[in-house]
Amino acid sequence: MKLQSMFLVGLLIIQSCQFKQKEPGKALDNLEVSNSSSYHFEPTVNWMNDPNGMVYYAGEYHLFYQHFPDSNVWGPMHWGHAVSEDLIHWKHLPIALYPDSLGFIFSGSAVVDHENTSGLGSKENPPMVAIYTYSNQKEEFKGSITFQNQAIAYSLDSGRSWKKYQGNPVINNPGIKDFRDPKVSWVEEYKKWVMVLAVKDHVSIYSSKNLIDWTHESDFGESLGAHGGVWECPDLFKIKSDKGEEHWVMLVSINPGGLQGGSGTQYFVGDFDGTTFSTSQNDTKWVDFGADNYAGVLYSNIPEEDGRYLFIGWMSNWAYANKVGLVDRKNMMTLPRSISLISTVDDNILAMQPVHEVRTVTSEGTPVSIEKLRSGFETKTAYTLAIVPGQGDSQLIFTNTLGDSLLVGLSQNEISIDRSRCGNVSLSDVFPTVHKVTMKRLEQVSIYMDRSSIELFANNGKVNMTDLFFTQTPLSKVFVSDDTNNIGVVYSPISLISKPL
Ligand code: FRU
Repeated sequence: MKLQSMFLVGLLIIQSCQFKQKEPGKALDNLEVSNSSSYHFEPTVNWMNDPNGMVYYAGEYHLFYQHFPDSNVWGPMHWGHAVSEDLIHWKHLPIALYPDSLGFIFSGSAVVDHENTSGLGSKENPPMVAIYTYSNQKEEFKGSITFQNQAIAYSLDSGRSWKKYQGNPVINNPGIKDFRDPKVSWVEEYKKWVMVLAVKDHVSIYSSKNLIDWTHESDFGESLGAHGGVWECPDLFKIKSDKGEEHWVMLVSINPGGLQGGSGTQYFVGDFDGTTFSTSQNDTKWVDFGADNYAGVLYSNIPEEDGRYLFIGWMSNWAYANKVGLVDRKNMMTLPRSISLISTVDDNILAMQPVHEVRTVTSEGTPVSIEKLRSGFETKTAYTLAIVPGQGDSQLIFTNTLGDSLLVGLSQNEISIDRSRCGNVSLSDVFPTVHKVTMKRLEQVSIYMDRSSIELFANNGKVNMTDLFFTQTPLSKVFVSDDTNNIGVVYSPISLISKPL
């Protein structure tokens, strides 16, 4: 969020004049999603960044998100709110949390307190508890460094209305400027709530029996992983690998200092003993090899019979997110993805695939003949391509009548995405760079396209790349150059959840 600080001074002078504390409760008439160009989640109006408080409860996936309803650039943060029964079709709900005298409502998580450990509800009607950061900009401007503190709010009606806890904050800042983004989970084997919190250049682990009284347990990561920027939005979870071994994984977003410039999310595979997270990992591992998957964390309270590890990231990058409004777009979320851990002889890799529910909007696939691939074929704005690469090198060229081109290179052991000649690339210096990833052998690729984004998943999600592009008209034609003639491509249109731009 470093960029924010730069924006902040100017922005807040303007916005503090127009910003008044508003009262929650005014319904948005339960709007069905009104996405303009996508099957991705986006807010009904204006600014959105991180996904927050992702929790499943009573048949609904809740998605809260960093939101500034009054402008298309970052500003006083609220928690926007939407629910879905299938992670694809979303219903927008009124804003859940408004900023107040303690500060803006920064990122955080939500849990269902089934045993009513907090005493904020009852066992019959367990409270949904949101744990978030108050960021007090007034204090920040006065020069304080303790302006970020952790707080809770609760809902007794499936997230429809929220009360902030009277005794907030529940964790006071110990004197560190960047102190935010609590992600809380119930850890059954240690019978306690565990919080991971981003603290400047490391993650602090806290625990609690009741979500209100928290004890600092340990710190992780000061000398591990990438450190080109501030650590943000951590998550910690236990997962079984495909070989049946249990591991703990920590996700940590970082900005700047991401793999492709600007923001990025790294992860560590290790162990957690109820107090300390440790790892023997020496390399820096990235969740995504593109530039536009940030601040992603997992859903909580997914029923055991489902058992999936569900992830959503913010499909943007602080290097240019504040300029996305200038090209008539809104920031979106990634497709919801299911995470798995793949163990090889000497490594553990986090893999991601779009959730199967995406098939509710995907039409049946049609194989595309090699002649059509060579001459170019027309596509809808939103679609998916399932690709079996040929023996040699291939290049997919996504283009439009304005001559914009997005290039995807597929070779035996490398994938590249080149958006440097694709529409407006001037939003940031990091925007036009070519994104590359190498692997032992490229076996299979699926690509999800919409008006402004490409999400690529290769080798069953062991490699994924998420990138935005901004063209004036959609990329409506695809060509393939393939030096062996044996690439296989299946094309399936995706129905937009509402009409395109
Ligand atoms: C990550 C982040 C968080 C912060 C929020 C503010 O993108 O910078 O660290 O809580 O955004 O909107």
